[in-house]
Amino acid sequence: MSPRVFSGMQPTADSLHLGNYLGALVQWVALQETHDTIYAVVDLHALNEHPEPEALRRRTRATAAQFLAAGVDPARSLLFVQSHVPQHAELAWVLGGFTGFGEASRMTQFKDKSAKQGERGTNVALFTYPVLMAADILLYDAEAVPVGEDQRQHLELTRDLAQRVNASYGDIFTVPEPHIIKATAKIYDLQDPSSKMSKSGGPGGIIEILDEPKVISKRIRSAVTDAETEVRFDERLKPGLANLLTIYSALSGRSISDIEDDFAGKGYGDFKGALADVVVEFLAPIREAALGWIESPDKLDSVLADGAEKARMIAQGTLERVYDALGVVRPAH
Ligand code: TRP
Repeated sequence: MSPRVFSGMQPTADSLHLGNYLGALVQWVALQETHDTIYAVVDLHALNEHPEPEALRRRTRATAAQFLAAGVDPARSLLFVQSHVPQHAELAWVLGGFTGFGEASRMTQFKDKSAKQGERGTNVALFTYPVLMAADILLYDAEAVPVGEDQRQHLELTRDLAQRVNASYGDIFTVPEPHIIKATAKIYDLQDPSSKMSKSGGPGGIIEILDEPKVISKRIRSAVTDAETEVRFDERLKPGLANLLTIYSALSGRSISDIEDDFAGKGYGDFKGALADVVVEFLAPIREAALGWIESPDKLDSVLADGAEKARMIAQGTLERVYDALGVVRPAH
């Protein structure tokens, strides 16, 4: 059996952006070649922000549609929506009993978000978010979890919880490796190249997979550069341009120095125009495939239902193992 991988993404936006694509989805798709891959749209995680019901419905399907369009293949990967597998919430409850209050309080993502939102704006689900994430991973005996650096601490908590339960109750959980997979290319915000491309920045800073070509061109033309004119990669002195060169290189497959050569003696205008063409052309088939899935919700829902059915089988097996070890009496039939 190939080593098992689990990863998830929240349905918090209508469109994924280029940072999600290059930072996560490209790896997810590549891992299908070598690993037993399980991917989920983690909708329960999104509930602590009380999204508009209609937006949550739309985003859950759109996120799954974009996974499929990017190349997550339901014949090779388990693809499902977290809430379709109730065992996630069940195991999260059990793991909550093994998580120290202080331990959870030390999660930097919780500290940052709760500091920003204040005590009144902070709910218990934000606090227990990493416990649900641990349940996602441990239910499937995942050995590797491809996530960004910002999730490293949550993965370490997952390992600690697995080891803690195993130490008291025997070999229950597979302890996942803190396997932070390097992004193909680290992409920064187009307006603020000192922070990574993220939906929490302004809309002008991101390129979305589902954006119309003219919106993409406009975003690239308005990207922050510098007062020089030379197309040259210098992360320190020309971070905006370096980011655009990184995007160009990642999507065209050409080296940065080849691209610099192509634009020798030309200005930023030419470069940005060419980059817009590269991005639009690269995203066109992904966008089209995603829209195809979004426009066929019945077909999409059926793929997700198949995935959930298989996921429930695995998840229930793990949960029975846990309940059994803990002495929870199971129904006779
Ligand atoms: N917390 C992750 C993020 O914000 C999303 C996530 C939820 C996840 N459950 C997971 C990632 C399990 C990997 C494995 O990126």
